Amino acid sequence: MMSIEKDIDYKEHWNKVYSNCEMKQLGWYEEIPEPSLSLIDKCDLNKSAIILDVGSGTTTLIKKLLEDGYSNIIATDLSDVALSKAIEALEPEKEKLINWVVDDITNPNHLNKIGTVDLWHDRTVLHFLTQENQQQGYLSTLKKLVKVGGYVIIAVFSLKGAKKCSGLDVVNYDHIKLSQFLGNEFELLEYLPYLYIQPSGGERPYIYTLFNRKIL
Ligand SMILES: C[S@@+](CC[C@H](N)C(=O)[O-])C[C@H]1O[C@@H](n2cnc3c(N)ncnc32)[C@H](O)[C@@H]1O
Repeated sequence: MMSIEKDIDYKEHWNKVYSNCEMKQLGWYEEIPEPSLSLIDKCDLNKSAIILDVGSGTTTLIKKLLEDGYSNIIATDLSDVALSKAIEALEPEKEKLINWVVDDITNPNHLNKIGTVDLWHDRTVLHFLTQENQQQGYLSTLKKLVKVGGYVIIAVFSLKGAKKCSGLDVVNYDHIKLSQFLGNEFELLEYLPYLYIQPSGGERPYIYTLFNRKIL
């Protein structure tokens, strides 16, 4: 039987969300992406390391990474509206330093051509993938792109977290479920339960995880 979610045009959904809401009012907006930055710090990356921000939207992380001196950042999202807004929010000379890629992480057309990356960063994308084929598509992209010895940061709604976001169902995770999802090629280095407070004041319990791709 077909689920209702299968009929959703996700690109259209996200384009509408970003068209209808100010960046600072989004239910996942962060002034400073503190937990992501603290986990990125732990990776001790070279400033020229390739960082892929998956489902980047209009995140403030990109600006912060530029300020911290990272020079090889790729921001990708299904929503062209989101990435256009993210570009507008940066000064032109900064925006040009980023590789912006509109693509579907579950079935990419362009990301297959970027080579391997040192860090995969995903804040609240994986949990929207409710169907097995979407999850397997995500995993296959991740395994193609993350180099051996590279890092993976995934932040999603925790088991205690909300069951929906932005009108869509989500899958809740803990660090064990995320480890099982990635499989034994990835070693869990750290996990961090984090209570995110929305601009509206709502509480959203997240789980942040940091993995390293093992040299097998
Ligand atoms: C809750 S927002 C988080 C945005 C950003 N990571 C942040 O922390 O501000 C989820 C993002 O995932 C993107 N997204 C959803 N499904 C996607 C897919 N299949 N491929 C790429 N991006 C996707 C959406 O367009 C949206 O920008």
